[in-house]
Amino acid sequence: MESRKLFADWPSADHLDQIDSFPVSLDGGGKELVDDLILKLPNPVVLEVGVFLGGSATRWLELREDVVVVGVDTFGDGWERIIQRYQDEDLPWMRRVLDPVPDVELLKDSLRRHGALDCVLSNLRKFKDRFLAVKGNFSDVCGAIAKEITPNVVYLDADKSFEMLEISRKYFPGAVLCGDDWTWGEAQGFPIQKAVKRYCERYNCTFQVDRVTWLVESRS
Ligand SMILES: C[S@@+](CC[C@H](N)C(=O)[O-])C[C@H]1O[C@@H](n2cnc3c(N)ncnc32)[C@H](O)[C@@H]1O
Repeated sequence: MESRKLFADWPSADHLDQIDSFPVSLDGGGKELVDDLILKLPNPVVLEVGVFLGGSATRWLELREDVVVVGVDTFGDGWERIIQRYQDEDLPWMRRVLDPVPDVELLKDSLRRHGALDCVLSNLRKFKDRFLAVKGNFSDVCGAIAKEITPNVVYLDADKSFEMLEISRKYFPGAVLCGDDWTWGEAQGFPIQKAVKRYCERYNCTFQVDRVTWLVESRS
């Protein structure tokens, strides 16, 4: 991938004005672990893998005026169907996600008409100088990203497998790895917990957990 094409161009202000989009926060708790880390770092650059509608990216960007967030996502088609599923299934946690959204029908319509990437950029437009979007599959784009930026935090909120942790370590060796969904997958034996524990064993690290958020710390 050519580096000039790596980061998505920001659409014009006129175009963004036409998009009625809203951030959606998928927050199971414990993000304070990441907040504290970002607040401590001298020049925080967060690589977030899995942006969705920008809920967590907004959180990091609002923490400090000098934090830079690079958000990787496939920004694929059909996110309005994900929202629709939340409406149809109406589970308590889905209701908590959608209740704060001012107009869910408008959001679905915007996703259909403008696509995921432009909706996300509309949500994050006030951070135009500090948010860089990369559209792609993380494993395909991480090498190109590593040539352009040196993040000190990698927040995994897409695939959190052992392989993704290893890829993150390989390409971003100076970054603290953290992520979401610690308690996900009881029926599958908590695969994210297994991946993080296996990684920590292999690389002699420790980890902290707060509700669904986890963060790996190096022992040295
Ligand atoms: C749980 S959501 C992210 C939520 C977001 N961090 C928040 O807190 O609001 C997961 C996102 O990961 C993206 N995703 C899934 N697989 C991916 C991959 N291989 N590379 C990049 N993004 C991926 C999906 O498109 C989706 O938007």
